[in-house]
Amino acid sequence: MQVGIDKIGFYAPSQYLDLTELAQARGEDPNKYLIGIGQSEQVVIPVTQDVVTMAASAASQVITDDNREKIAMVIFGTESGIDHSKSAAMYLKRLLHLPDQIRAIEVKQACYGATFGVQTAKDYVKANPEKQVLVIGADIARYGLNTPGEVTQGGGAVAMTIAAAPQILALDDATSFRSEDIMDFWRPLYRTEALVDGRYSENIYVDFFQAVFHDYCKTTGRTIADFAALTYHLPFTKMGLKGLRSVLPEASDTQQTRLKANFEASRVYNRRVGNLYTGSLYLSLMSLLANAALATGDRIGLFSYGSGAEGEFYSGTLVQSTPALAAKQQFDAYFKKRTKLSVAEYESCFKRQLPNHDVLLDTKADDARFVLTGIKHDQRQYVDRS
Ligand code: HMG
Repeated sequence: MQVGIDKIGFYAPSQYLDLTELAQARGEDPNKYLIGIGQSEQVVIPVTQDVVTMAASAASQVITDDNREKIAMVIFGTESGIDHSKSAAMYLKRLLHLPDQIRAIEVKQACYGATFGVQTAKDYVKANPEKQVLVIGADIARYGLNTPGEVTQGGGAVAMTIAAAPQILALDDATSFRSEDIMDFWRPLYRTEALVDGRYSENIYVDFFQAVFHDYCKTTGRTIADFAALTYHLPFTKMGLKGLRSVLPEASDTQQTRLKANFEASRVYNRRVGNLYTGSLYLSLMSLLANAALATGDRIGLFSYGSGAEGEFYSGTLVQSTPALAAKQQFDAYFKKRTKLSVAEYESCFKRQLPNHDVLLDTKADDARFVLTGIKHDQRQYVDRS
């Protein structure tokens, strides 16, 4: 029985920052951002959006009247949680009108959380093939104004349903993972911006990728020649390229050309959204599906990395390429409707954080279906405007 990604949806707010303009404002050569980092634009998150609203907008694309009653579990991967105790999945369950006979939980291990969700969901659906699991990766990446990490900010949400007889990607059983307690990136509870040891985090990322990729190959007997594409967690798109380059010498010339072309397809959208932490790998998968020429049965490798650190390499085979067409149209429409902010507008939006007391927010400028309208009695207030 095949189990895998049946539906996938993406949401990010519709305001962005042009990174050439940011480079000029920061006194950097724009090519450092565009080529050296591999990012051209970055989503800017308004105060009326958080991981719950963004997840609801992404999940509303994959939850239908046909599958709502089959969802047995919501696994919400995030490192931008809104409550120390209550899970973001519980708010989501209400906004999506999911059944009460459901498990709803939030998981955290930096950018790795959604991958834990996918793998746990795979095991669950194998044992309960009539059921489905909703997996979320939603985050807001914040490093701070005038920091080296600023160019790698972003945010958004990806939602997936994991089901038997999936329509998009049938997951292979084999998977290889590794974890180690290290300090490459972290965010203490009192901070809204992450702390990072930048260069060290890049080195650890590549080390983890090589370790899990080679362990996967050893366990399965597969080699790089078995993959039509390798996709990566993309904190910034040059990072995935560094991962790819570290194994390319293992491929033939023709294979190298194909993997490089498909890598380009897999970073089209991430270049324009930025880091969305838990959702990054899955946005890259969507970018690949929408922009590459792939065939049914092609094997795709997925490398997930969460600082701190945990890495996993797993794979799946493409079930059919038709969803790609719909995805491409959706992304084209999304990028077309976005509004560009000036650097000054971005800075003011970045500084505008939710207060820790009751407040009523002005949601007029937010075009999302799900919005945060404020805080009342220390409880976040959400509205579905559909
Ligand atoms: P930096 O020090 O400003 O940049 O920080 P740099 O000086 O290292 O330059 C970056 C690249 O641009 C270099 O290329 C330069 O040569 C190149 P590289 O050596 O890396 O190949 N460059 C140029 N290229 C073309 N034309 C030019 C030019 N000038 C320079 N004119 C850094 C960069 C990524 C460290 C910083 O942005 C940062 O700290 N970012 C956040 C940390 C991060 O994303 N780490 C990634 C691995 S950890 C991870 O993926 C997990 C994470 O998502 C969190 C989680 O798990 O939750 C972050």
